[in-house]
Amino acid sequence: MASAGLRTHEVTLGSGHVVLRPLTEDDWDLVLGWWNDPEIAAYADSNESQYSLAQVQEIVRGISRHAYCFVIEFRGRPVGECWLQEMNLDRILRRHPEVDCRRIDIEIEKAYWGRGIGTTAIRMLVEFGFERNGADAIFAMDVADDNPRSRRAFEKAGFELYDTVSKPAGARAIVGHDLVIWSKRHVGSPAAE
Ligand SMILES: CC(C)(COP(=O)(O)OP(=O)(O)OC[C@H]1O[C@@H](n2cnc3c(N)ncnc32)[C@H](O)[C@@H]1OP(=O)(O)O)[C@@H](O)C(=O)NCCC(=O)NCCS
Repeated sequence: MASAGLRTHEVTLGSGHVVLRPLTEDDWDLVLGWWNDPEIAAYADSNESQYSLAQVQEIVRGISRHAYCFVIEFRGRPVGECWLQEMNLDRILRRHPEVDCRRIDIEIEKAYWGRGIGTTAIRMLVEFGFERNGADAIFAMDVADDNPRSRRAFEKAGFELYDTVSKPAGARAIVGHDLVIWSKRHVGSPAAE
């Protein structure tokens, strides 16, 4: 059965040279390139070595039903993608059934790593999620122990360690770290209970 099209939106966020603009059905070449970029894929958990266009479309269109998906532009050039998605993992939902939990996923081309673009994008997603979207908590899921750059980018944006989870046997990394930032509206952090 054909999947529904991408659920798009009209939110654009900007800070300095970094702009997050809506992902659209015109962006599949970019997305396919990023998903199949070995330097990005090295940090992904996927079992796929190469995605087809149809696979990427099906996955991202599915995610977009429950997410704001963005292309990250730096000085007007598309350099990566990110999204703010409703939490979809039971290990979080079980512990916080009454809480509006979201997650951020992000990837940027290697040539643009280490310039603060990731931190800026994460900060904008957090502000959007808390101030305009009613989120109570925003997570980064399964940040692999061999990806300190990602962990640092989230921590610079205010995230803290929530839990450490063992990766399945045979996975590239041994553990993954779940990180979280709580909305100021949310009184007390359940993570500290
Ligand atoms: C993770 C990612 C989005 C971060 O974006 P970025 O623009 O490179 O991040 P920033 O430049 O904002 O911040 C990176 C920080 O990590 C630091 N860092 C880099 N390598 C590091 C290392 N080995 N150990 C510790 N810190 C490291 C940088 O110095 C920088 O911190 P600083 O500003 O205090 O110096 C990007 O690197 C990426 O797309 N990686 C591949 C895909 C990926 O890992 N996605 C996340 C999956 S959880």
